[in-house]
Amino acid sequence: MIAKRQVADLRGETTLRTNIHLRLAIPGDIPVLQALIDVSVRGLQAQDYTPAQIEGALKTVFGVDTQLIADGTYLVAEAVPNRMESDEPKNDGAASLIVGCGGWSKRKTLFGGDRWKNREDELLDPLRDAAKIRAFFIHPAWARQGIGGMILEACEGAALAAGFTRYEMGATLTGAKLFGVKGYVAVKPISIPLMNGEVLPVIHMEKRVSGAPLDSDTRGFRRV
Ligand SMILES: CC(C)(COP(=O)(O)OP(=O)(O)OC[C@H]1O[C@@H](n2cnc3c(N)ncnc32)[C@H](O)[C@@H]1OP(=O)(O)O)[C@@H](O)C(=O)NCCC(=O)NCCS
Repeated sequence: MIAKRQVADLRGETTLRTNIHLRLAIPGDIPVLQALIDVSVRGLQAQDYTPAQIEGALKTVFGVDTQLIADGTYLVAEAVPNRMESDEPKNDGAASLIVGCGGWSKRKTLFGGDRWKNREDELLDPLRDAAKIRAFFIHPAWARQGIGGMILEACEGAALAAGFTRYEMGATLTGAKLFGVKGYVAVKPISIPLMNGEVLPVIHMEKRVSGAPLDSDTRGFRRV
């Protein structure tokens, strides 16, 4: 995928386009992911939640879910600068940058990172249960460029390949704006009690698969 972002170089003569690649998250990504989650929540949820709710949620429920990484169902989106579109000698030294993450789960937990107390690690039955769409966080500088939707499509494809025909999540009010345009419907409101006494309203959302299987599949993403 070529992201919408285009960055002019210093001379303004050439354009640096940025490729977004998805790969499976690995344990070594965890410190970067934790920092990404913090900056994503503080930057992008500010329109939907108060500072007290955001800080309480970061301490209570948002964070890396290492079970998803262990299961091979958590993806990171990396921005990899392309070569400059000029006839200059190419410099391929630019490092990739994790700009987003998100996953799906075959386990019962609906939402919450490792620090969330109400976890249910039992496996779901694809024939009866909905796969969980989990823990989407995009860096604010990379929001509204289709990266969340890209990760979602890959997760839905992988869950479908694993036999699930329904998806559900506990969506933040921020996330509901993405999931709503991707066919998810609100099932019921959920109130998450936070350790600072605040309450975080989220929305239980669901989507049913219709039509042919999707092509994308996180089983096709390599571990690095
Ligand atoms: C929710 C989140 C993952 C969306 O990621 P994203 O990469 O910005 O989403 P996309 O660019 O794929 O958005 C696709 C479409 O969804 C809708 N959408 C997404 N974010 C929106 C917003 N803040 N306001 C209105 N519409 C929005 C738009 O229709 C958008 O298309 P457009 O940009 O062409 O109008 C991101 O805002 C985020 O990380 N939020 C903070 C953490 C969080 O709350 N995560 C959700 C946990 S359930």
